[in-house]
Amino acid sequence: MAQIIDGKLIAEQIKAEVRVGVSLLLKERQVRPGLGVVLVGEDPASQSYVRSKGKACEDLGMYSETRRLPASATEAEVLSLVRAWNDDASMHGILVQLPLPRHINEHRVIAAIDPRKDVDGIHPTNIGRLVIGMECFKPCTPAGIQELLVRSGHDPGGKHVVVVGRSNIVGKPTANILMQKAPGANAIVTIAHTAARDLGAFTREADILIAALGKPECITGAMLKPGCVVIDVGINRVPDPASPKGYRLVGDVHFASAEQVAAAITPVPGGVGPMTIAMLMQNTLLAAQRITAA
Ligand code: GUN
Repeated sequence: MAQIIDGKLIAEQIKAEVRVGVSLLLKERQVRPGLGVVLVGEDPASQSYVRSKGKACEDLGMYSETRRLPASATEAEVLSLVRAWNDDASMHGILVQLPLPRHINEHRVIAAIDPRKDVDGIHPTNIGRLVIGMECFKPCTPAGIQELLVRSGHDPGGKHVVVVGRSNIVGKPTANILMQKAPGANAIVTIAHTAARDLGAFTREADILIAALGKPECITGAMLKPGCVVIDVGINRVPDPASPKGYRLVGDVHFASAEQVAAAITPVPGGVGPMTIAMLMQNTLLAAQRITAA
């Protein structure tokens, strides 16, 4: 049976470190890190993520403000909110929850965020710096995946990492982080995605498999190399009449068959999910430290 990589526990460790940093900043510079979050529309999963982000800020002694706009909000409204926070000295981090409604241009909104406040690490400046190995804000889920691997004793150095999925917020930046010539990285990286005619041919080559394709339980045990490490990024709601909520959460990996084959695997929930929030808190502290540095 596989080792279960406990993302909740590792996220708690990171949040404990951030809490110390927050109190130091408060004591030494009288600065409380602040995070502004914009949520447009009523998507239930996004609402739940945004609530968790606000709660984490409160828990760590940070200031946070969440603006909830209706799905009918205009791009100009979102842009003016972002620009106001760019100029607001009490706000060190700005996060626009994705996806945005179709009538709002996501690229224009992200580009409007001051890169020094882009704690989500998705502004083109930060992504460009990431690709060429410069100091930057790393996107939270990819940074969380890296921390999970390193802190659970599965350093990716010299390993073959196969990333399944090519999204701008997970697949592409994860591959870029793990291929850097840097501690906690230095992997040989392959990116596969759902257009592959035989996805299993790729996944079976992975020492470390990162599943971020957004398809419930798509990667089965039969698609894994025995002894591999599996990081499941998927958070999918599937209908379940037996659950009080009417749904349950499953990953992109079929857990029951995968844990028979893998050496280590992240659960859903309790794997990558809590890490994303922990890394957002770490980035927000970092933004406050950098912006207020003498
Ligand atoms: N939606 C799902 N994940 C994320 C994330 O990490 N950042 C933002 N902004 N939106 C998301």
